[in-house]
Amino acid sequence: MKLVIVPNKEEGSQKAFEQFIAAKNAGAKVFGLATGSTPEGLYRLLRESDVDFSDCISVNLDEYVGLAPDNPQSYHYFMQKHLFDAKPFKASYLPDGLAADPSGYEAILAAHPIDLQILGIGNNGHIAFNEPGTPFDSRTHKVSLTESTIQANKRFFEKEEDVPRYAYSMGLASIMSAKAILLMAFGEAKQDAVHALFHHEPTPDIPATILQQHPNVIVIADEAAAKRV
Ligand code: GLP
Repeated sequence: MKLVIVPNKEEGSQKAFEQFIAAKNAGAKVFGLATGSTPEGLYRLLRESDVDFSDCISVNLDEYVGLAPDNPQSYHYFMQKHLFDAKPFKASYLPDGLAADPSGYEAILAAHPIDLQILGIGNNGHIAFNEPGTPFDSRTHKVSLTESTIQANKRFFEKEEDVPRYAYSMGLASIMSAKAILLMAFGEAKQDAVHALFHHEPTPDIPATILQQHPNVIVIADEAAAKRV
């Protein structure tokens, strides 16, 4: 894994943008996208650029169970607002939060192998919604969100009770199938997760540590997140 330390989120987003464009210029056609506050700067830079995704495919990591695509808290809605309205892709896929089960998503991933996967990281070391304890060989599955994730994500909802308790998420093996991975981590709250990402032996207890076994990972962290590396 390669670590790039930047002074702040703005510069990290700029670095991520440059990596994204370089991958696209080198022929990447399928982009694995993430939600959360971490990639917002990257998406803003993409929106403001002249990049054209009309011949590209996007696949997203995860979606809350029970939320319709037009629900403002859904990840479908987040992606529309932050990227797809301004920069439509030829096709964009996210797990269907209203589906009875998420098993159909793996066929979509198999049909569109990811060239570049964008990732954030949870305070507890989760990636996508793969919470501690998720097996390394997991594929797209239904997740019961941990209390720590519910607490971290409640800021996006009016009331804590509104935070869904379940999500559909690509698994760790699904994420590891990407040809290249770009993980961003910004802010002090990510310090322990970033430390473990580099220094803890790979363990399902800290899902992001699986990335040590991937041959092509770049981590862009600001000084606050990289403080303990
Ligand atoms: C959620 C998402 C993850 C994201 C994480 C961190 O749990 N499912 O994909 O990486 O939150 O969120 P943030 O970027 O807002 O810190």
